[in-house]
Amino acid sequence: MAKDPVNVNEYQELARQALPKMYYDFFAGGAEDQYTLKENVEAFCRITFRPRILIDVSKISLSTTILGYNVSAPIMFAPTSMHKLAHPEGEVATARAAAACNVIMILSYSSMCTVEEVVSSCHAIRFFQIYVYKRRDITAQMVQRAERSGYKAIVLTVDVPRIGKREADIKNKMIAPPLKNFEGLLSTQVVSDKGSNLGAYVDSTLDASLSWKNIGWLRSITKLPILIKGVLTHEDAIKAVEAGAAGIVVSNHGARQLDYTPAALSVLEEVVRAVKGKVPVFVDGGVRRGTDVFKALALGAQAVLIGRPVVYGLAAKGEAGVRRVTEMLKDELELTMALSGCPTIKDITRGHVITDRERLHSSL
Ligand SMILES: Cc1cc2nc3c(=O)[nH]c(=O)nc-3n(C[C@H](O)[C@H](O)[C@H](O)COP(=O)(O)O)c2cc1C
Repeated sequence: MAKDPVNVNEYQELARQALPKMYYDFFAGGAEDQYTLKENVEAFCRITFRPRILIDVSKISLSTTILGYNVSAPIMFAPTSMHKLAHPEGEVATARAAAACNVIMILSYSSMCTVEEVVSSCHAIRFFQIYVYKRRDITAQMVQRAERSGYKAIVLTVDVPRIGKREADIKNKMIAPPLKNFEGLLSTQVVSDKGSNLGAYVDSTLDASLSWKNIGWLRSITKLPILIKGVLTHEDAIKAVEAGAAGIVVSNHGARQLDYTPAALSVLEEVVRAVKGKVPVFVDGGVRRGTDVFKALALGAQAVLIGRPVVYGLAAKGEAGVRRVTEMLKDELELTMALSGCPTIKDITRGHVITDRERLHSSL
C-alpha cells in the first residue's frame, strides 16, 4: 500500500493498518450478510455517463448552497459516531477539516467530543444529528444546546428503533465508551451480557415508539430546520414533507441497520419524484469517488453525505487525512464535470447518466 493514497478506497487500507481490529470492524462493518454494504458501492458502478462534448469547461465551479449556506462542494460529512476511536482528537479534528474544506459537518449525537468543544474548535458550518431518547428531556436539552451554540439544522435519524445485527461487533465484544455529551444526564456505561454493549445501549436509551406524530414535538422545541435521515421509500418521503421536514436524507445508515434494503442510490429517484422539489433531497451510502457524487446529483440529489471515507481519513492521518479525502473527492468531481461538459453544479442533469435499467430497455 502506497503511503500517499491516490483515492479514497486506499484510505480504507491505511485505516485498517492504523486501528485495532475491534475499532476497524466497528467502522467498516455492516449488518448481517452485508448485502446492502456491497450494494451501496455497486449501485454506483451500474450507472454510466452520457458525457457532452464541445462545451467550454475551461473553468469549473463546484460551489453550491445547502439550506442557503454557501459551500465549496455538494459534499457533507455524514454523522458518524465515536471519532476518538479513530483518532485521539476525535470530532474536533473532523470539524477542522470540514472548516478548511468549506463543507458542512453533521455532528453525531454519539460523538465523543461535546457539542460545545466542536463549536469552539473552528468555524465549520455544522448541523447536529439526533436520536430521540426515551428520556425526551435529554434529547430536548441536546437540541437546545446545539441551537444555542450555533448549529444550523437538526438531522433526525429515524432508522434506528433497534440496532442492526452487526456480527463483527458481536464477535469482537465491541464496547462503546461513555459519551461526554451525556455526562451527568444519563449513564452511558451500559453493562453487557459478556458481548458487545451496543445493542443494550440502544435498547435502554432510544425510543422505539417514535412515530410520525412526534415530529410535531421536535418542531415545537426548536426553530432550526429539521432534516429526516433514513428515508428509503416514496411513501415515507411524502410523509416527511407533510410532517414539515426541511430536507430528506435517503439513507440505509451505511448498511448497518436492515440488511437487504436497496442501495440508497437506487431509490433516490423514487424519492426525488415524490418530493417534487418541495424540499432538498440528499443521499448517502457508498460514495467513494467524485464520479459517485456526480451520479447522485444527476439523479436528483442536492448533495451527498460521506460517512466511512471521513472516518478512514481520520484514522489514517487525523485532520489532514479528512482534508485529503475531501479534496480527493472534490478533485475527482471537478474532473468528472470537465469530462462530461458541466462547468457548474447546475449543469449536471438527468441526461448525463444512464442507469442499467434504461440500458436494458433501450437494447430490447
Ligand atoms: C462508524 C459509523 C457510525 C455511524 N454513526 C451514525 C450516527 O451516530 N448517526 C447517524 O445518523 N448515522 C450514523 N452512521 C451512518 C452515516 O451517517 C451514513 O448514513 C453512512 O455512513 C453512509 O454510508 P458510507 O459510510 O458508505 O458513506 C454511522 C456510520 C458509520 C459507518
